[in-house]
Amino acid sequence: MNHTMTEAAQFKDRTRVQWDEAAAGWDRHGPQIRAWLRGPTDAMLAMAGVGPGQNVLDVAAGAGDQTLDIAARVGAEGAVVASDISEGILMHALGNAVRAGHANVRTHPADAEDLGLPDATFDAAVCRLGLMFLPDPLAGLREIHRVLKPGARFCAMVFAGPDMNPCLRILMSTALRHAGLPPRDPFQPGGLVSLGKPGLMDDLMARAGFRNVATTRMEAPFLWPTTADYLTFNRESAGPILQILAPLDAAARAAAWDDMQAQLDAYQSAEGWVGPNTLLLTAGQK
Ligand SMILES: C[S@@+](CC[C@H](N)C(=O)[O-])C[C@H]1O[C@@H](n2cnc3c(N)ncnc32)[C@H](O)[C@@H]1O
Repeated sequence: MNHTMTEAAQFKDRTRVQWDEAAAGWDRHGPQIRAWLRGPTDAMLAMAGVGPGQNVLDVAAGAGDQTLDIAARVGAEGAVVASDISEGILMHALGNAVRAGHANVRTHPADAEDLGLPDATFDAAVCRLGLMFLPDPLAGLREIHRVLKPGARFCAMVFAGPDMNPCLRILMSTALRHAGLPPRDPFQPGGLVSLGKPGLMDDLMARAGFRNVATTRMEAPFLWPTTADYLTFNRESAGPILQILAPLDAAARAAAWDDMQAQLDAYQSAEGWVGPNTLLLTAGQK
């Protein structure tokens, strides 16, 4: 194994642990995540052409919120494979599917860069807020392209760049500063907004072999009653931020969250807390 491969493997090990630990929190906030991403999720499924009777791959499925929507759209004649690097979070996805009465969902623990699924298997694929966590997103896109049938469509949802996502920028930069770490290039692979650089997703999709590639920008503001509620959500489910703060003692961690709160209070008004958030939806066809 060369140096770079070792680093990527270590990064993925940390990612897996991070999301195993954040799994319960992400799942607990399912209703808020669902409301936040309702419109963009419908758009993503439409752009991927998800419809009745299809066999659909859901990459980095997490606790399976969008999996449930896919399961409903493909119906009993169709099927969904919910794949994720974290087995812990997939247990929530399966539980949620069973509780919702969807017998057409199966889980598949796998790294998106190495899905371990046969060629040309799926009629459509989606990846909601997962692709940016891959150290090599082009490898992931090539892998998704490989498992799609000819003509099948794929749509990815990622965060736009740091200028359009000030809350994510505040969370990340404050966590790094309190952890005594240097600022990170926001476009460094694996980072929250790393695929938000204008034109990057289109370029990667085309290089992975997709045709008819197009990106749509969508506003999806975070709405919470107060700044504290938004921070509670992050304290319980924001894997990448939690990982940066993990080495700090309780008092130092609390100071970091207080600092974030002071900055994020700028988005509080009498009507509630409204955090600007912009998403990119990029679709293409095999
Ligand atoms: C922000 S969550 C999104 C989950 C879900 N798609 C949603 O929108 O609710 C990101 C997910 O990406 C998964 N992930 C990160 N790196 C991955 C990789 N290399 N391969 C597969 N999944 C990965 C994490 O385990 C986590 O479940």
